[in-house]
Amino acid sequence: MARFFVDAAVSKAPYDQLFIYEVAGDARPAIGAPPAGYLGLWLEADSSFVFFDRPADEAMARILTAGPGLKLLDRHQLSYEQWQGGQALTPIVVDDLHIVPAWLDYDPPAGARLVRLDPGLVFGSGLHPTTAHCLELLHLRRQRGPLGRVLDLGCGTGILGLAAAAWGAQGVTAVDLNPLCVETTQANARRNGLALTAVEGPAQDFIHLPAQVVLSNLHWQVQELILADEAKLAHGPELILSGIMRGFAGPLEDRLGRLGYRVLQRREADFTWFTFWAAR
Ligand SMILES: C[S@@+](CC[C@H](N)C(=O)[O-])C[C@H]1O[C@@H](n2cnc3c(N)ncnc32)[C@H](O)[C@@H]1O
Repeated sequence: MARFFVDAAVSKAPYDQLFIYEVAGDARPAIGAPPAGYLGLWLEADSSFVFFDRPADEAMARILTAGPGLKLLDRHQLSYEQWQGGQALTPIVVDDLHIVPAWLDYDPPAGARLVRLDPGLVFGSGLHPTTAHCLELLHLRRQRGPLGRVLDLGCGTGILGLAAAAWGAQGVTAVDLNPLCVETTQANARRNGLALTAVEGPAQDFIHLPAQVVLSNLHWQVQELILADEAKLAHGPELILSGIMRGFAGPLEDRLGRLGYRVLQRREADFTWFTFWAAR
């Protein structure tokens, strides 16, 4: 059972205010040597969101000059806590696994498996119910026997793949469309000395990789693409699927049934988010 506890003495995140520059176009090639305070860049459709920990108008002016097609659309400022959905990050405990904000002074109990996680600017702090339910079902799966090879599709911070690696998975591949997620996952794997390969790309292009357990916390449109290719899915005998909203839970169960999967466990939060563990 996944448990969460709030520690009143949680230290502050290293990020305080975030200064975000929204730019039309792919600003990656124009960044060059990272300017002071640069935290990273999100690519979304045709726009870039360039993050700094301080106002960076001058650095942005240089970036815009270096990429002639780029155009500044907007500037945003918000606190890291607002960025994280208004929640202060706290340690998460799932059985013997303790996932702890990387900056926290934390003394795990003897025998605990500790994962220090810096979520940075991407999804996957562990506090969202979809992530929490994936961790809980992964734990139940792990109690049945070794996890073997694991594929983490839509890895975000890498939290699910890192949990699998900490629980002894024999090779974890983590995939995300967003390059900042890939960088964040790699940094988190290095921070913990965990073996994990993070790659950039669309989840559906990686389901051919052999894996005993496929973790996929992604919206329905991508889950549909993942489940569309039955032949490739043969490599994923067990699936933990989340990010499914109420209206798609029924269609997903039907689809799993048609593909020969049996739902072993399901979880639901606020009658909104659904998570399934299925096997065949
Ligand atoms: C809900 S987050 C899940 C993060 C983490 N796995 C967790 O459980 O907390 C979904 C992630 O999927 C990524 N994503 C969205 N569409 C994708 C696609 N088509 N292929 C791969 N990754 C995708 C997003 O960038 C985001 O990091």
